[in-house]
Amino acid sequence: SGKTYEHLLVSSPKPGVGFIQLNRPKALNALSTPLILELNSALRDFQSDKSIGAIVLTGSERAFAAGADIKEMKDLTFSAAYGNDFIETWSDLVTFLKKPLITAVNGYALGGGCELAMMGDIMYAGPKAMFGQPEIKLGVIPGAGGSQRLTKAIGKSRAMECILTGDNITAKQAGEWGLVAKVFDSPEECVNGALATAEKIAGYSQIAAKACKEAVNKSQDLGIREGVEYERRVFHGLFGSKDQKIGMTAFAEKKKADWTNE
Ligand code: HXC
Repeated sequence: SGKTYEHLLVSSPKPGVGFIQLNRPKALNALSTPLILELNSALRDFQSDKSIGAIVLTGSERAFAAGADIKEMKDLTFSAAYGNDFIETWSDLVTFLKKPLITAVNGYALGGGCELAMMGDIMYAGPKAMFGQPEIKLGVIPGAGGSQRLTKAIGKSRAMECILTGDNITAKQAGEWGLVAKVFDSPEECVNGALATAEKIAGYSQIAAKACKEAVNKSQDLGIREGVEYERRVFHGLFGSKDQKIGMTAFAEKKKADWTNE
């Protein structure tokens, strides 16, 4: 898009793939309001760019993000936090994004950093990834979904232990507990693995990918019966798409599908 950012590096290194690197190295990618606003803007641009089918978000080797910016928050009052809906800008990050987002985590993903990583549809980790919700050490609690998403991901007892002690979760544990889909042997492999997965997804119909994401996300909020009904409605609806005809005809004719995203 040609936009330049102060706290992000934005590119498209593979066909159909949007790539965002948090780039505030001196503060270990602490998620200040200006950074979050830039991230919203970059994600919105990829969301509206028809050539982009999937997005990868990563940080540096040392830190995905070490949390919300503590120095920015420390003098915040209740009335300012409540009155201005502090952190409301963060919910945007997930609600408008219909395209698959992969978060590739190396180094620290703490507090808001862990919460941002968990907003990814797929999470990947490098060998030295460290996840944690250390807010209790600061006299507060997670504020961008950590208490909810971490609990859904790893179960109540493990989430309680993490959130109440402020202790970190290693990459190995995150892999074993299913917080992340894969743990890679090096930071580079983690990012390249995320880019390869994004490229694969971007090679499918954007309509189908969007519907897959929507259906899986429903499972987080609905009971199994309503969830399965929802899935079937969306499945039925896809028979109205061109890409369903293209995909199934290509299979029957032993050809490669040439998607239209329609
Ligand atoms: C502001 C931060 C920061 C943060 C690190 N820095 N984390 N600044 N907000 N969250 C800054 C440091 O102040 C320091 O700046 C520089 O980054 C390097 O950090 P060091 O502490 O010197 O590095 P190191 O000794 O390697 O320790 C790394 C660390 C530690 C373990 C990650 O930085 C740390 O504990 N950070 C805070 C983690 C945390 O509590 N996160 C949760 C925040 S609360 P200077 O200027 O000194 O060089 C939160 C609430 C979310 O996220 C609510 C909803 C969004």
